[in-house]
This record gives sequence, C-alpha cells and structure tokens, in this order.
Amino acid sequence: MSVRPQTKSWLKVVLTTILLLTPTACAVQNITTAQQPTVKQRTQNQTDNQAYTDVQNLVNMGPRVAGTPTNEKASTYIEQQYRQAGYRTRIQTFTYSKFRDAGSSLALDGTTIKANAFRGSAPGKLSGKLVAVPNFGRANDFTKVNVEGAIAIVKRGEIRFTEKVQNATNAGAIGVVIFNNKPDSLSSGTLTQTFKIPVVGISGDDGDTLITRTQIAPLNIDLNANGRNVDVTGRNVIAYQEGVTQPQVIIGGHYDSVEGSPGANDNASGTAVVLDIARKVSQTPLARQAWFIAFDAEEDGLHGSRAFVNAATPQFLSELKGMMNFDMVGVNNKLLIGGSSELTKLAKVVQPQAQLYGANCANGASDHAPFAAKGVPILFFYRGMEANYHTPNDKTVDPKLLNETIQTGLDIFKRLVNN
Ligand code: BES
Ligand code: ZN
Repeated sequence: MSVRPQTKSWLKVVLTTILLLTPTACAVQNITTAQQPTVKQRTQNQTDNQAYTDVQNLVNMGPRVAGTPTNEKASTYIEQQYRQAGYRTRIQTFTYSKFRDAGSSLALDGTTIKANAFRGSAPGKLSGKLVAVPNFGRANDFTKVNVEGAIAIVKRGEIRFTEKVQNATNAGAIGVVIFNNKPDSLSSGTLTQTFKIPVVGISGDDGDTLITRTQIAPLNIDLNANGRNVDVTGRNVIAYQEGVTQPQVIIGGHYDSVEGSPGANDNASGTAVVLDIARKVSQTPLARQAWFIAFDAEEDGLHGSRAFVNAATPQFLSELKGMMNFDMVGVNNKLLIGGSSELTKLAKVVQPQAQLYGANCANGASDHAPFAAKGVPILFFYRGMEANYHTPNDKTVDPKLLNETIQTGLDIFKRLVNN
C-alpha cells in the first residue's frame, strides 16, 4: 500500500499487527421520513442541492468500476470537491487481484455466441466436438456420454458449478460450457477452485439452440475463454482538516460502482452525502472530529475499507467513537440505520421515534463491516433494496432523500462527538 501525498501524520497510521476483535453486535433502527428534519431544516434543504449535483456529476461519468480510468476520474472529482470545501486530501492506494473477462465467446459456422469466463477457469482458445451432457452433469451423467477430448455442454442447476466442472475434467473434457437454466445470460459465475481447462457460461437461449443442434448432427465449436486474474489498484479518497491525525469518527461511503451500472444510488448517493456533511461542518469545530472517506473497490469485496483498517494502528481504531457508513441512501422513503447496539441507542436519542428494526444488519454487506470486525462501533445508513440495484438503470436519486440523510447524519455525528 502507498499513500500520496506523504505526510508524517499518516505515518502514524501504519501497518501493525492486526487486532482481531469480536464484531460488534448489530441492531437496526428504522426511521420514516415523516420523523425527519425540522421545518426550518427542511426549508434550508430545499434550496441546497449540492449533494444532488455531485450525484449527477458522478453518474454522468459512467460506471466507476475500481481500476478503470472513469473510477480514477471520479476519485479526482471527489478530491477536488473536498479541497474546495477546505479539507486536505490524500489518496490511499491498495492493490488486489480481480478476475476480469476481456471478451469470451463460442464460434461455430461463422457465428459468434457471447460467453463469460468463469472465475477459476483457465484462459485459452480451443476447438473441439461439443458433447451435450444429460441432466445436470452429475458424475453418473458423464457415464452416458463420451466427453474425452471434447467440449462438454451442461445445464446450470441442482449441483454446484465446481462439481459439474470437476466431473467433466474427470471424464476427460478439454473445455466446459455451462448454459443458464433461464433464457438470459450466465455471467460472473465462480468456481471454488481453479481448473486447468477453460469454462464459460452462456445464456439459456443459446444453450438450448446448441443442444438441439448436437442432437441433429455432430457439432464442432471454437471456444475462447478470455478471463484471468489481474492486479487492480484501488484508491480511497481521505479528507481531513490540517493536523488532524486522530479523528473521533470516520464518516464514509464507497464511490465505486459495479460494471455496467452508473451507480447513482449505489453509491454516488452515499459518496455525496458524506461529502456534503463535510461541507456543512467545514467552518465549525466538528470538521476536526472526523475523517471523511470515499472508499474504493467495495463492490469487489470491501477492499478499500479493509485496506484502510489494515493500515491503521490498533490505537487509531480503538480511539474511534464510531464509523458511520452511507450506502444506497437516495431511493426509498424509509431511512434505515443499523449498527452496533451502543450507537443505535444513540441514533434513537437523535430520532426518538426510531423503531428497532431487527437484530442484525444483514441487509447487504458494505464498508462498515471491516470496521466492525476490528471492534469499531458502527452505524450503517441505507434505504434498502430497490429495483435498479446493480443495473444500468441505477441512474437517479431523490434530492430530498439525500438532504434528509445528510441532516440525520449530521445530527447523529454531533451527538456521537459530544457523547
Ligand atoms: N450497496 C450494496 C449493499 C446493500 C444492498 C446495501 C442492499 C443496502 C441494501 C453494496 O454495494 C453491495 O452490493 N454489497 C455486496 C457485497 C459486497 C461484499 C460485494 C452485496 O450486498 O451483495
Ligand atoms: Zn453499495
């Protein structure tokens, strides 16, 4: 991991022994919009759409997938916004391995079928006879056909992908095509071990067509599996007031998005809320009580937040009163607040009508989790699942909901610092 620009203060937050503490207990508060800000605050919010502008600016860049130029452009935008608000910034970089498919396909008689390499598949191009395996590719199913030296095609379902591929390998197949058990495409399939042969997924429609053709006449296909593990560099944007080396609170949210999705709600919304809380407190003593962080690579497995807690000293983490994470806060009327029991109690004081929602914050993993795993009390602000989640349609959010989240976040931040 490297950090730019180098400051002595950052060196205090160095890699040390990982203190694995029991994750804090989780509870969820449910706050309806009717219990949100006072009339005065609402009036102010109506004329303040900076967070909404940030969401639009981030969305207009396109998907912010970690390790891509667009993601880096987004990090620069976020950095500039914090600087304009009077904060120092540093970029914390980290690397991790990610499986990337640079375009996989099947080809036969001059036509090409879109395929997706499985994580754990070997890369490679090969040609061979396509053999349809009956049922779902159990070991017994492979005894009914001869896939030796051939490419096996098998349907998704009933048993794990890994088991199908293991059975195909045992029977001597040189490649495997798994077709979906629904008409649409089969993407981002994962094998729990790495195989020496290429494995790709195709749509149920394409699979049915190929199966039918193998029943009519022997079929040869070209298989091109083009997925491999690549090293990705992620970039957390950390904003702080000059000289603040030990904040009381971390306020964060991830700014990366999944492939193909502009990530308005997931999570330009949280990024913009964190940024706007920073703007609103910038001229007050509160600004010195927090570090504001736009985490990267959350969608690839919470890499940014994990890199952050792993680089922090146990002392830095133990002196935190809490970590507030905002993820998906621009759609759905109900603001949900989950978190460690001591902090949800506090959230309830700020929002007296808040109701206990559930015993754990199981509704989606996010960047609070690595903090909780290190024993830092956490609060997770979110508005729950929605139809456009992780799709190309995650294009817009409700500015009113952003502002309500900002106000609630601010109130709880103040309370947490004065606690
Ligand atoms: N924003 C989601 C988590 C989420 C989902 C929050 C629904 C609130 C409601 C997050 O970006 C995400 O997609 N997380 C993944 C797990 C992560 C480790 C890749 C998930 O929940 O599947
Ligand atoms: Zn998210």
